[in-house]
Amino acid sequence: MSNPFRTHWRLNPDVDFLNHGSFGATPIVVMEAQRAWMERLERDPIEFLGPERALLPKLDRVRDYIGRLVGADPADLAFVRNATEGVNAVLRSFPFSPGDEVVITNHGYNACNNAARYAAERCGAVVSVAELPFPIESNAQVIEAIDAMLTSKTRLLLIDHVTSPTGLVLPVKGLIELARRRGVRVMVDGAHAPGMVPVDLSDLDPDYYTGNHHKWLCGPKTSGFLYVRREWQHEVRPTTISHGANSPALGRTPFLAEFNWVGTYDPTPILSMPAAVEFLSVLKEGGFTQLMRDNHALVLAGRHALLDALGCDLPAPAEMLGSLASVPLSAERVGDGDAVKRLQHRIYHEHAIEVPIFLLNGTLPCLRISAQAYNSLDQYERLADALRVCLDSKRS
Ligand SMILES: Cc1ncc(COP(=O)(O)O)c(C=O)c1O
Repeated sequence: MSNPFRTHWRLNPDVDFLNHGSFGATPIVVMEAQRAWMERLERDPIEFLGPERALLPKLDRVRDYIGRLVGADPADLAFVRNATEGVNAVLRSFPFSPGDEVVITNHGYNACNNAARYAAERCGAVVSVAELPFPIESNAQVIEAIDAMLTSKTRLLLIDHVTSPTGLVLPVKGLIELARRRGVRVMVDGAHAPGMVPVDLSDLDPDYYTGNHHKWLCGPKTSGFLYVRREWQHEVRPTTISHGANSPALGRTPFLAEFNWVGTYDPTPILSMPAAVEFLSVLKEGGFTQLMRDNHALVLAGRHALLDALGCDLPAPAEMLGSLASVPLSAERVGDGDAVKRLQHRIYHEHAIEVPIFLLNGTLPCLRISAQAYNSLDQYERLADALRVCLDSKRS
């Protein structure tokens, strides 16, 4: 294996792992850091886990760390297990009235769009879907599609910082400004953003923002944060109501007190997150900026290899991508939903390549690649060859 960074991960050397995006992959040093936290926890569980004992200062140190990383006041950052939980907390706490509207997009993550539908429907609110094109040419098309769905009844806009099925880095700053001018609050689902693209919440100024530590920050599963603008913190409740709702706040705001104690949970993924960021920061000479730049360049090179093999035009401009990229596959060559699943199965079982292949919005077959430090161009070239074989054998 030619990639020198590969040895830092435990990934199966017999598989080309091109799907960092789904669950991330944790480097060995981070697993060791988590193991050390687990040893400490199990030596003295009550002292370690009791909020009134030694837990909160440890959480606060990580909170400060994330605050510096994403440009937020740590007092505005709660911990969640994952971005789905962050989105749920906001949506299910949102004070919808009957007839209110919430806008989501057709590139939104299914789990979070489900949460929006659930939260809206139980209050008599309505969900509208902004249809973003794919292939896509510009950010202007995103702004236009979302602008067209905002009405005088829209209360909340749920947008992804980086879209899951298509890997598009959406123009969130412009969308937040647009929504604010219309009196609409914005929840940004940044599941993929921290570690893939720079995130500066003081500049973006969203109402709500959630991010994962276990995707592009390479932290242990399961760990993430939820930012809530100070003025809405009194409304946002965790998805699990627990002791934090009425126990002493121990010097924290009611918002933090409630998210700090959501029943018994394993805080070691959260506590190990700084180890992951420190590892990634020194992996390359140019630090995190270099890592993000290299991952971006690699995903573009990988996409180029695939587009060549498929004879397909550019589905999105390079400036709209981070380190995920999707390419549409011809529905004629691939077939229906079952055929899409069969293709992914063949690529994994016959060619030893892990890559998601799916139907975008139930119609357009797409394949999504990820690029992380452990990947190299030859892996995408093998995928391109595998696609040639699978799609040609299907045709013949
Ligand atoms: C945009 C987006 N939101 C939310 C999620 C869910 O992440 P998690 O399962 O960690 O909550 C994903 C996962 O890929 C995603 O892409």
